[in-house]
Order: sequence, then C-alpha cells, then structure tokens
Amino acid sequence: MQTPKATATAVFDNLIGGRWSPSPSGRLFENRNPADHDDLIGLFQDSTPEDAERAIAAAARAFADWRLVPAPRRAEILFRAAQLIADRKETFAREMTREMGKVLEETRGDVQEAIDMSFFMAGEGRRMYGQTVPSELRDKFAMSVRQPLGVCGVITPWNFPMAIPSWKIIPALVCGNTVVFKPSSLTPLSAINFVKVLEEAGVPAGVVNLVTGGPDVGTVLATHDAISVISFTGSTAVGRLVNQNAAPGFKKVHLEMGGKNIVMVMDDAQLELAIEGCVWGGFGTTGQRCTAASRVVVHERVYDAFLTEFAARVKSLRVGNGAQDGVQMGPSISESQLSTVMRYVEIGKQEGATVVTGGHRLTTGPYARGWFHEPTIFGDVTPSMRIAREEIFGPVVSVMRCRSLAEAIDIGNSVAYGLSASIYTRDINKAFTAMRDIYTGIFYVNAPTIGAEVHLPFGGTKATGNGHREAGTAALDVFSEWKSIYVDFSGRLQRAQIDTQEL
Ligand code: UN1
Repeated sequence: MQTPKATATAVFDNLIGGRWSPSPSGRLFENRNPADHDDLIGLFQDSTPEDAERAIAAAARAFADWRLVPAPRRAEILFRAAQLIADRKETFAREMTREMGKVLEETRGDVQEAIDMSFFMAGEGRRMYGQTVPSELRDKFAMSVRQPLGVCGVITPWNFPMAIPSWKIIPALVCGNTVVFKPSSLTPLSAINFVKVLEEAGVPAGVVNLVTGGPDVGTVLATHDAISVISFTGSTAVGRLVNQNAAPGFKKVHLEMGGKNIVMVMDDAQLELAIEGCVWGGFGTTGQRCTAASRVVVHERVYDAFLTEFAARVKSLRVGNGAQDGVQMGPSISESQLSTVMRYVEIGKQEGATVVTGGHRLTTGPYARGWFHEPTIFGDVTPSMRIAREEIFGPVVSVMRCRSLAEAIDIGNSVAYGLSASIYTRDINKAFTAMRDIYTGIFYVNAPTIGAEVHLPFGGTKATGNGHREAGTAALDVFSEWKSIYVDFSGRLQRAQIDTQEL
C-alpha cells in the first residue's frame, strides 16, 4: 500500500490498551467512497504484525480483571452501548453508506442489527444458563458453568460493517473474554464508530482493541499463542487459511464464509410475492450478502411468467449513490469486486445462459466515478454452470427451471455452500418437506433468503461454515466453554461408576 501525502484528511488511529495511537510503521491506507472514488473518507493505520502483537498483549492483561467482573455488570455496559448506538443510528448509517455504498435504508438496518444484538446479548449477562443435574452419588452436587476462553481474535468483512462486528464482539464480551478486532480495510470507519461507543459505554481499557490493516494483522491473530478463539467472516478461501493457520495452536475457530443461496418458486406460489422476494433477496445490498438469493429455481409451469415480471421489476430498479433518496441499489464495494461481477457475466454468456436484463457496467453520468453495475438476471441457467455454483457477491441472479419440488431440492443441495434457502409455495406439505430436506443453516418459507434476526443461530453447512453458529444463544458456544463442576459434601471418598450399589 502506498503512503499518501500529508493532507487535511482525517487520520484514524488504532486502539490498543485503552489508547488511540498510530502504528509506529507510519503507514496509512485510504478509505474511499465506492459510489464516488474522488471522495476520500479518511486515512487509517496500515498496521504491522508488531501492532497486532501489542494489542494481543494488552487484551491478555485486561482479561485478568474482566473475566472476574460479574456478567450482569458486564452486561450493563453493553446495554449502555446499545443505547448509544441507537442514539447515533442516523449518523452511523450515513457514514456507513459513504464508505460501503449500500442504500441508507439498509445501512440503518445494519446499525439496527448491532443495536438488536447488543440488547439481546446484554440480556445474556443475567442468564448464561448452565445445567444443574442430580449426581449419581449421595451428598454430591453437579453442575456446568460457562467460562470465558481468553483473548478473541475477530476478523470481519465489509458488507455488514457494524452488524457483523457486533455479532462477534458483544457475545465475546458478555462471556468475559477480551478482544482484538481487525475490521475489513474497506470499512474501517464503521468499526471505529462501534469501538468508540463501547469505550464510551464503559468497556475498560484493553478489553477491546482495534487494529486496522491488511492480511498480516489477520495472520498474527490466527497464529498467536495468546489468542484462544478466532472468529472470522469472509470468503471461503481466506477462511480456509485462517483455519490452517490456527490449527497447530488448537485454537477454537469459528468461520462464516460463502453462500450460493436458492429461492425455490413452486407452481402454486403467490407469484407476485415470490418476485418481490427475489428482487429484494437478489439485489438488496447489491447482492453482496452471504445470504443473497443468487439462485432462483422456478417450476416450469410458471417459469416464463415469473421471469418476465422479475426482469421488468429488476430493470426498473434505481441504481445510484445509496445516500440519495429513491436509490434502490448502490455500487459494488470496489473495483476488484466489480471486475469479479463482470467476469462472471462473461462466464455466464459463454456457458450459454441468456442475459434477461442488465449485463453491463455503468460508467456514464452519475456512475462515472463509482463501481456501478446493472442489476443482472441470467435465464436458461442449468445447475452445472459456474454462475449457478460459484459465489459472485454482486448483482447477478441465475434463474433455472425445475419440474418438481424434489428436483428443486436436489438443485438447492447440489452446491458446495449451505447458508440459506427459501421456498415460495402455498402447499404446507411442500413447505415442510423442503424445510426438512434442504441442507442449509437457515431456511425461509414465503420469504427470501435474507433477513435473519439476531436471536436465532446464524450460519451454514458445508463450505459455508465449520459447524459453529453465531447470533442467538449459539454464539455463547463460540465464545465460552463448559466447565463441569462436582461438589462432594459427603466427607468421604465416593467413586463414580464404582460405588453404585448403595441405596
Ligand atoms: C451477511 O449476509 O453477510 O440475514 C449477513 C441477513 C442479514 C445478515 C446478513 N441479517 O441477510
């Protein structure tokens, strides 16, 4: 990364051990608006491995006290943080749209998700239930309690710049862990907004540390001996690397990766509702959600009617700067993400799919200085095409035909990923069959593949995840571990499994 010349542009620091300070490297990186790359938002620390190590050391020191703060007291701080985010929702949303591109309505939703998660998880401070169970021996008490793990490494993506950090950091904190947080270099401002709120709410020095920068920082988090758990959301390729890096140290690894989510539209569906759902699921967030409805399979009896109306609706979507009223779809996050989209459009054409609408980059007028692409639908897609199997992470939806529910489910399950899926049908038998047989972590009936709520587990199967879930109380399983405790108050040696005859 180049070192930009000194200007009046705002410069943002790291937070290590309660102090906001620059990286001794003196290197900075730029954060620019994807809707207008002349708009420089700020300069952020391009941190070194040493910065990450100092942050880990600070987090390890802070753990000694933080783990002993009663969970309900930790939670009070998180409740305050939730309220502070709520108070600043509009400002945070506007800054997020500027750095990330999605429309204001959606960045407000992103901030709302962080508020929801903070209130929900703070509530866990007074629950965090374990078990008390009868012992098989007399005068003996048996129970299980959750204990924190220590220092958590948190690596987050750019598509949900405040929601996803909250999914990881808030449960980590309520459980009594400390955190070193490396946000995506494409959305560091929202990360700083979030961390500043935590600080202001009363999270003690060193409990949350923020280190901005590139993969070097992430590698330290994944490999350092003092990190106990690493939680990562991002691409499957990088997730695999994190997993490999963390394996020799036996770290707990939580991975949330790609998706190729399907909407199944049956011939008895409310077609208008299904179309509306596919527009929102496929093109909301410019298709840049892990949960995006990037595949649609439609029963052959309603395929033509569906596709005609779906294309008409998508064609009329207003693309532009997400900060402007009436804009329904923003830009891709970056030039390289836009090139990926364009590459897949070419791949789809070469594979013989039909561009039903869209298919081009937008470059003129209001689009000249941003990474804009037309919302694009491919028809006549077959399940073996790359555009039906690989995650594109952009405004491209592949539409396929099926002859039955069973075939739709087979197509749904035929990809490497397993995050989210949905069915549109009025037949309850079909809905329940699909609920049972689709192998994903999330499933919707008569709704698109996006829109998970914070109090249920979030995550996926196969190449989407590694068996863990975030959000809901499932998040506690990532950020705590069980300790089973036996208290013998008999005053004599009692041997489990051996002294079994005594009544
Ligand atoms: C993501 O796609 O990366 O369920 C997260 C949803 C949002 C979260 C998406 N609540 O679509």
